Amino acid sequence: MRNASETESALQRMVTAYVVAGLLFMLLPGTFLGVWNLVSISGRHSLSALSPAWLQAHGHAQIFGWLGTFIIGIGYYSLSKMGRLMPFAVRRGWISWALWTAGVTLRWAANVTEFQWRILLPVSAALELTAFAIFFATVSRHKPASAPVERPPMEAWMKLVVASTLGFLSVLVVNQVEAVVLAMGAFHPEVPHRLDQRYLFLVAWGFPVWAVWGFNARWLPVFLGLRAPSSRGLMSALAVSVTGLVAVALGQLRVATILLFAASVLAIAGLNVFRRAEKPAKTLGVISSFPMFVRGSYVWLLIAGGLGVYAVQADTTGGIWGASRHALTVGFLSTMVFAIGQRVLPAFCGGHVLYSKGLMWASLATLNLGCLLRVGSEIPAYEANVRLAWKVLPVSAITELTAVTLFALNLGITLLLPLFNRGERPSQSDRRSDTALYMPQTAVRR
Ligand code: HEM
Repeated sequence: MRNASETESALQRMVTAYVVAGLLFMLLPGTFLGVWNLVSISGRHSLSALSPAWLQAHGHAQIFGWLGTFIIGIGYYSLSKMGRLMPFAVRRGWISWALWTAGVTLRWAANVTEFQWRILLPVSAALELTAFAIFFATVSRHKPASAPVERPPMEAWMKLVVASTLGFLSVLVVNQVEAVVLAMGAFHPEVPHRLDQRYLFLVAWGFPVWAVWGFNARWLPVFLGLRAPSSRGLMSALAVSVTGLVAVALGQLRVATILLFAASVLAIAGLNVFRRAEKPAKTLGVISSFPMFVRGSYVWLLIAGGLGVYAVQADTTGGIWGASRHALTVGFLSTMVFAIGQRVLPAFCGGHVLYSKGLMWASLATLNLGCLLRVGSEIPAYEANVRLAWKVLPVSAITELTAVTLFALNLGITLLLPLFNRGERPSQSDRRSDTALYMPQTAVRR
């Protein structure tokens, strides 16, 4: 039988494996293919010239391979810390890891090479669904470590995390059905455009955005010193965005985009993102501009929502939809993962300290610059064929590639360096307060 510190180390090795796999998916199948696609589109001055299977391979690797892998790994880790499922959670975590990484890799290979894709596509979806089902079954059985006589009501942040987990599960079920239908009747491993547009709403606005809102509600009062989030505000944001996604499913994109924009405003208000902080930010081990980047990512969320509303009215060749999607995925989600990830992952993966604050700043600044160039030039290029904009797009791609490389390098070196041999050493009390974040009780204004 393992003792507590052995189980803790095993848990840290497992979350490290998730982080490393996520970084690899982000770098090669995700970003490198995205850059390749964008450079080809810019060379031909047309989005339609490129194989949808390649575009979808890139999207799948980024959302499932990178963000999804991080979410599952962090989910196993933090729920195990909160609950009493440590030893068997580690075992199951590794089984999920193996199935998940195999599924995402097969999906990418099937889309890009089309080799045996009629078999590989449904198999990859089944592997992903099984990996997630194991995770889901494990975390649904979680119980608080200290079993209180009466369970406290579930807090807003946890409700968002639960909604995100259910959203993730539904996306994987849809993905499985899509894969089987394609395998039976399509000519290529490509989801038809109209269906893909709707599916992408669920994929992007469903689970990752809710996961960010949930974990932000838990962490931002500590990391940024923000006021306690408003439970009512966050629950309204969740309800409005769920209604928005239902509208997407019914084909009501005009209503859906307005609702998703409104949900973003409600979430920002509920989290108090732009209100004056009540305590100093906790930036130990990270850059002092960390709060600015986190707030900046919410500006991208508003831009993404606003462009979505505009796209329904005016998009003709995919430029406004593309700009909106990347304002969300690169501007909001990736900036958030770069900022919060470099704050928490070194600690989760074995009490490390981030290797370089300089690299952290450079990765975040380059990512935001790349996203600005991309979102700013995609609409004039795709929609109005402006020559200068076509020249800027490849520059944006290389800038974003540089950003993700710096992020991966910084986290990679951090994880490889032996414990605490560089940077500031967090004090006992800082480590204790970080650990306390995994516990469910926190002040939430109702
Ligand atoms: C170096 C950074 C990136 C580049 C160069 C890039 C490039 C592209 C290109 C060219 C497309 C085709 C549609 C369009 O032109 O707008 C696309 C689609 C997409 N991208 Fe990216 N991307 C990048 C980063 C990301 C990230 C970080 C994510 C998610 C976390 C993401 C998710 C998606 C999704 C979901 C699609 C839609 C795929 C589909 O049509 O099914 N991208 N990307």
